[in-house]
Amino acid sequence: TFVVTENCIKCKYQDCVEVCPVDCFYEGPNFLVIHPDECIDCALCEPECPANAIFSEDELPADQKEFIKINADLAQVWPNITEIGERPADGKEWDGKPNKLALLER
Ligand code: SF4
Ligand code: F3S
Repeated sequence: TFVVTENCIKCKYQDCVEVCPVDCFYEGPNFLVIHPDECIDCALCEPECPANAIFSEDELPADQKEFIKINADLAQVWPNITEIGERPADGKEWDGKPNKLALLER
């Protein structure tokens, strides 16, 4: 499965949702997650993310492992998203900022 990681937080570009053939992205206030049971590992979303926030679970950086559970948990409670909606106005300013996990709104 593929996993959305920390750099998506507050960037939330949403380019990923446009390419997913099975519509398995779920939307929170400032982050998206992938439903691990619905992702078919097509890899289409990975290069679409301008924030480079999407990784295959096998290639997840060591400091992003906790996002496996975050994606699995939040995909159960957040609504599905299939089209790009409003992007955060200051999204670009947050791209690459460290320690954004504390800012994740659930
Ligand atoms: Fe969707 Fe494919 Fe990305 Fe999985 S790898 S979330 S199926 S686009
Ligand atoms: Fe997030 Fe990248 Fe999608 S920033 S919303 S994973 S395009």
